[in-house]
Amino acid sequence: MDPNASGLAQRLAEADQSHLLQFWSELSPAEQAELTLELQGMDFKEINGFFKNAMETSSSSKQEKMDTRMEPVPREVLGSVTRDRECLKDWELAGLQCISQSKVAVLLLAGGQGTRLGVSYPKGMYDVGLPSHKTLFQIQAERILKLQQLAEQKHKTKCCVPWYIMTSGRTMQSTKDYFSQHNYFGLDKNSVVFFQQGMLPAMDYKGKIILESKGKLSMAPDGNGGLYRALGNQGIIDDMERRGVEFIHVYCVDNILVKVADPAFVGFCVQKGADCGAKVVEKTNPTEAVGVVCKVDGRYQVVEYSEITLATAEKRSADGRLMFNAGNVANHFFSFSFLRDIVQKHEPQLQHHVAQKKIPHVDAKGQLIKPDKPNGIKMEKFVFDIFQFAKTFVVYEVLREDEFSPLKNADSQDGKDTPTTARHALMSLHHRWVLNAGGHFIDENGRRVPAIPSLKDGTDLPIKCEISPVVSYGGEGLEELVKGREFHPTLMIDENGVHELVKNGV
Ligand code: UTP
Repeated sequence: MDPNASGLAQRLAEADQSHLLQFWSELSPAEQAELTLELQGMDFKEINGFFKNAMETSSSSKQEKMDTRMEPVPREVLGSVTRDRECLKDWELAGLQCISQSKVAVLLLAGGQGTRLGVSYPKGMYDVGLPSHKTLFQIQAERILKLQQLAEQKHKTKCCVPWYIMTSGRTMQSTKDYFSQHNYFGLDKNSVVFFQQGMLPAMDYKGKIILESKGKLSMAPDGNGGLYRALGNQGIIDDMERRGVEFIHVYCVDNILVKVADPAFVGFCVQKGADCGAKVVEKTNPTEAVGVVCKVDGRYQVVEYSEITLATAEKRSADGRLMFNAGNVANHFFSFSFLRDIVQKHEPQLQHHVAQKKIPHVDAKGQLIKPDKPNGIKMEKFVFDIFQFAKTFVVYEVLREDEFSPLKNADSQDGKDTPTTARHALMSLHHRWVLNAGGHFIDENGRRVPAIPSLKDGTDLPIKCEISPVVSYGGEGLEELVKGREFHPTLMIDENGVHELVKNGV
């Protein structure tokens, strides 16, 4: 339909976005129809407002460093797997009880574009090259399955941990298809709920929406904090209420070590009466570009490395640790009522952050340009933007080597957060589980492999060892399988038993 007759041209003119129709006459009828559909679904007034606010906030926050307003997390709201060892069992039991009562749900943030990894399919479908070749989605699904089993065995009652999976317009269909092709990895199909976050257009610095081709806008998901709007408009809050969910564990798809619905974390937060909790890992290097959880003007938030001076990043407490060391890993606990309040009351108050990006676009002649420096912005909300609204906020510190190894980048020499680092982190954890349970590894000459890998040749390749989550969620239950036994790597422990792949010539 002609954009003048439909009123679309008028709407665009009022919003100062008329350039979006500049190639109209060159588009095929199908392209015209597609562009019309996309534009008709957009609220330009709202988008222009987001742009204005985001740019204002970003320029004012650049001027002033946070240093003088920051305080570290006080000890009384902190739980730590190393410093509070004596409480761990209690927290775990409390969490497992909530799980057995079907009060705990998990919520997966999987709407990102995974640009740095650079694959065309959703990141959760990535195989990092484990002996089993399981994908991130499968590993997480099996951890949920195992946790349900552990809770059921302990409390002799059937339970369910609903799994809410946030995707974006780009990843929804392939994610759904993948789960359905794999029969939901043994989970109850009705308890795996997919929902879709919103998308926003990329804009140039003047607030004009960018065209990625003559008839297509450059669109991107609205950040992992797009969660809160999506929870409301996709009916997820209602679904949680119907199921009687009281506590929610939120995490990112890319962390291969994630303890989904970690009972100890859930139990700690519940016992503290928290409405909001953040799992953190210790930041040990002052210049590591990781956000830290701290208090700013008395309220909790995540402060990025770029928002503080080096002097503050280097400050140490009396115990020698960095003063601001609560490294945020986007792994959170929310009570249902807190989440509902966020969705129903506070979401509109959350500001978009500005990310400067190199955005491919068409120029006035319709030529595709791939810029080599940032030419515009994407607007994103962050999942942790809501800490400020918490009444009882707690922090739970875990060991990085046990719980955090994100997959961000493609493999490269000495790369950080790659498929190789993720695979090594998982195998090295499972190696430690075997050692803790009384098992040992021997090399090809029949010699015991030392528990600490040798660095003499400059490599610290982990022992090849993988334990299926359906056998062990967090290292439990392995003694009867490995105690007093010696294994040649590659060791695989799964539902079919204990196998040594190389020895058997597999
Ligand atoms: P990242 O910020 O690392 O983004 O997301 P990404 O999409 O994985 O990778 P890049 O930056 O494009 O290379 C952290 C987590 O937040 C989710 C991601 O799926 C990941 O689990 N996320 C990110 C969303 O769910 N939605 C978004 O809009 C952005």
